Amino acid sequence: MKGEQQVEAALKSYEDVDSWKTVIFLYNAALKEVGTKLEILNEEFQHVHKYNPIEHIKTRIKTPESIVKKLKRYGYETSIENMVRYVNDIAGVRVICSFTSDIYRLAEMIGNQSDLKVLSIKDYIRNPKESGYKSYHMLVSVPIFLSDSVVDTKVEIQIRTIAMDFWASLEHKIYYKFEGNAPEYISRDLRDCAKMVSELDEKMLSLNEAIQECIEHQANRDNMNDVLNNVIGSGPEQKSLNYAGEEK
Ligand code: GTP
Ligand code: MG
Repeated sequence: MKGEQQVEAALKSYEDVDSWKTVIFLYNAALKEVGTKLEILNEEFQHVHKYNPIEHIKTRIKTPESIVKKLKRYGYETSIENMVRYVNDIAGVRVICSFTSDIYRLAEMIGNQSDLKVLSIKDYIRNPKESGYKSYHMLVSVPIFLSDSVVDTKVEIQIRTIAMDFWASLEHKIYYKFEGNAPEYISRDLRDCAKMVSELDEKMLSLNEAIQECIEHQANRDNMNDVLNNVIGSGPEQKSLNYAGEEK
């Protein structure tokens, strides 16, 4: 049974409860599931590599007003069935990383979760939007285990760097302020900023790589010193003991 049909079956089984509340309950459960998965992946990464790929996570449920607006924009009547079928971002998770490389690492880890189904991927980092928008989008479905059924529920995951997030939140404010018709010089400045964001992300990534290299060199040097101290011995005290041993 497809996710939409499972939701419809769940709605029927709770017919004495408001359908809207049932649907929101499912999407909230899906957000919790995905949020926990991401936290565990982050902790595992910290455990193994001593490093957090995730800076922070934000989750949200789309407001009823935005759901209705989106259905109208798509040309569908307002109904619970249509919203479950056609609105993919009712449950949204935004994952903010420090570096672009973390985004792809994380996307791969998400893709490897055997209970998650990846329904679609939009890579607006390799293919930015006209506006300059960059982000990595994954539409996934996560099984929600209810008392007598399982419902696959959709969650939109947006993964981006801190710099991309900074740009997107400002662009969003401007878009709303001008209702999508911002003056050309503002759109142009935004596109320029998007370029600067990409340059900053690249610079920060190579800087981080240089730092990591330095740390590794330092660690190797420290290790070498430890080896020298422990095996060969460094002080005259140790040497004289050895000689004393030979002399015996
Ligand atoms: P909607 O744009 O949501 O109707 O659906 P879609 O199927 O076109 O999805 P898309 O992946 O293009 O965008 C989904 C979400 O990404 C949006 O709801 C925003 O949160 C974000 N997004 C997409 N484009 C832009 C953009 O140009 N600027 C900003 N700030 N956010 C964007
Ligand atoms: Mg869109």
